[in-house]
Amino acid sequence: MNLIRIRPATMDDIDMVIAINIECLPEHYPFNFWIEHLKKWGDIFYVAEVDNEIVGYVLSRIEEGQSHFKGSYIKMGHIVSVAVKGKFRRKGIATYMLLTLLNSLKTVYGAEEAFLEVRVSNEPAVKLYEKLGFTIVKKLTKYYLDGEDALLMAKAL
Ligand code: ACO
Ligand code: ZN
Repeated sequence: MNLIRIRPATMDDIDMVIAINIECLPEHYPFNFWIEHLKKWGDIFYVAEVDNEIVGYVLSRIEEGQSHFKGSYIKMGHIVSVAVKGKFRRKGIATYMLLTLLNSLKTVYGAEEAFLEVRVSNEPAVKLYEKLGFTIVKKLTKYYLDGEDALLMAKAL
């Protein structure tokens, strides 16, 4: 495969990012959701490009809240949505995007942790997050609209 490039998303990428989200995940968001994230947290919203084609994205935001590992109130990165187009999977692209993101969460925003929710049935994603050092914090019962439970996973940065 040719060169994979990870770079911050721009306005021109949004239509493609939304198309990948619709193709890959059951959780969709209104157009404005994507635009607001781009405006507010454009430096922690990445796309992956292969030969000038957008093949994946990761969207995140900064939140403040109770640490998942200690008693204190901290700044954390919330990884809201990540996906890679089917034909480009298992080539390390999600890993590359998430490592880039985790580094920015820490160095640009001073986030002390990253966290996310994932469907209990989503073995590829759970494996990916475990490989990156995330651990399961708790199960969120009936978190999704269709009634499926989520795993809350977090990692200290
Ligand atoms: N089965 C088992 N383990 C897997 C699989 C799989 N199908 N896919 C990835 N992994 C694990 C493996 O440990 C893999 O390492 P290896 O290939 O050396 O064995 C590791 O994750 C890294 O895989 P990557 O190649 O970096 O991941 P990829 O680019 O394929 O993207 C992703 C993974 C994002 C989960 C992709 O499968 C996808 O887009 N799925 C549909 C959308 C989705 O489920 N997104 C996550 C929802 S949760 C959220 O958004 C917060
Ligand atoms: Zn979330």
